[in-house]
Amino acid sequence: MADAQEFLKDFPLLGQKMNGKQITYLDNGATTQKPEQMIEALCHYYGGCNANPHRGAYALSVEATEIYEKARVRTAQFIHAARPEEIIFTKNATEALNLVAYSYGMTNVHEGDEILISIAEHHSNLVPWQHVAKATGARLRYIYLEDDGNLSEEDIEKKITERTKLVAVTQISNVLGLKNDIRRIVKKAHAVGAAALVDGSQSVAHMAVNVQDLDADFFAFSGHKMLSPMGIGVLYGKYDILDAMPPFLMGGDMIDSVEEQDTTWAELPAKFEAGTQNVGGAAGLTAAIDYLESLTFDRVEAIEKDLVGYALPKLRALPYIELYGCDSRRPNKTGIIAFNVRDVHPHDVASILDSFGVAIRAGHHCAQPLHHYLGQNASCRASFYFYNTRADVDRWIAALQKVRGVLGFGA
Ligand SMILES: Cc1ncc(COP(=O)(O)O)c(C=O)c1O
Repeated sequence: MADAQEFLKDFPLLGQKMNGKQITYLDNGATTQKPEQMIEALCHYYGGCNANPHRGAYALSVEATEIYEKARVRTAQFIHAARPEEIIFTKNATEALNLVAYSYGMTNVHEGDEILISIAEHHSNLVPWQHVAKATGARLRYIYLEDDGNLSEEDIEKKITERTKLVAVTQISNVLGLKNDIRRIVKKAHAVGAAALVDGSQSVAHMAVNVQDLDADFFAFSGHKMLSPMGIGVLYGKYDILDAMPPFLMGGDMIDSVEEQDTTWAELPAKFEAGTQNVGGAAGLTAAIDYLESLTFDRVEAIEKDLVGYALPKLRALPYIELYGCDSRRPNKTGIIAFNVRDVHPHDVASILDSFGVAIRAGHHCAQPLHHYLGQNASCRASFYFYNTRADVDRWIAALQKVRGVLGFGA
């Protein structure tokens, strides 16, 4: 299992104190900490070969271009895309999802069509589809949940119909931490001629992803949730689908030729990468992929499974803790635990935990419709990564046991 010392040497922030308290970082669903190897790659780029890629004929620019394009090749290998041109760099998952909504959605969805998403979507994979539905006259429909938090089997069966033009679901819910059977949903979408988009923001850093095996038409994620810098994200799309789509953002680098009144577009992937790109972020992403591949996802998953298995009985033993998505009858629970402390607002829980050095997330986690569906306004969320340890869980639970006392409630 995770040995506290093993990863401390790689993650400079993890060994530090904040306000005199050892940092217990349990907000990996929001963003992960960064390994030295990634930070070095970023510094190497900015300190050794910073230049605008694709534009200069001089050596520095050529090197920047090589670093940027190498990241594309490595990312394609990482998620098993058929070719590097299927990888579009964006600034985050949100931009990747908006790219599909604006470019694919606005072109292919029409009045009377249906877009199907799940009630467990992050706002980034929900609000853009509301917008497309309103703008086109399409109907936005939802897959609701079973009692255990998994997507309703009945809704998957009944709501993917001849009217469905696009199904957009997350691979792992950022609140409930439940992994969805994406392959099955994609198959059903394709059977009615609909496109399938997968939000991989919470999955790609925690499990091996093979987009060809999933047969997803689109797959989106953010680098910062997988050891990389903020500001680099990825949209994977099948080549022929991307090729047929109009550009999303327009400007430099995405054109073939520009006349006074008309423009022709560059080939993929440049067509979707307008303006100066985040080469440092791409260098960091390559280093993050190298790190994760040498660690292996078998190891990542085993550590996270152990931590969840260790934490849940301790949480269940506290009568004032309400858990969400923790009773799945399938073995699809990942390292995210959403909960509430009876009578205490999640923000108060998070502030009190912070006074013990424990960082968790509190609020609606950009999933308001899901919280309303669960009958809650907000919740707390602890989310693990491979560098977390059982000692982190112990510190979290010990602090949690103090919360109600600090506010003057009985146990
Ligand atoms: C499932 C899911 N989708 C999309 C996003 C959006 O990611 P970003 O803010 O990096 O664009 C998040 C972020 O928390 C997420 O958890």
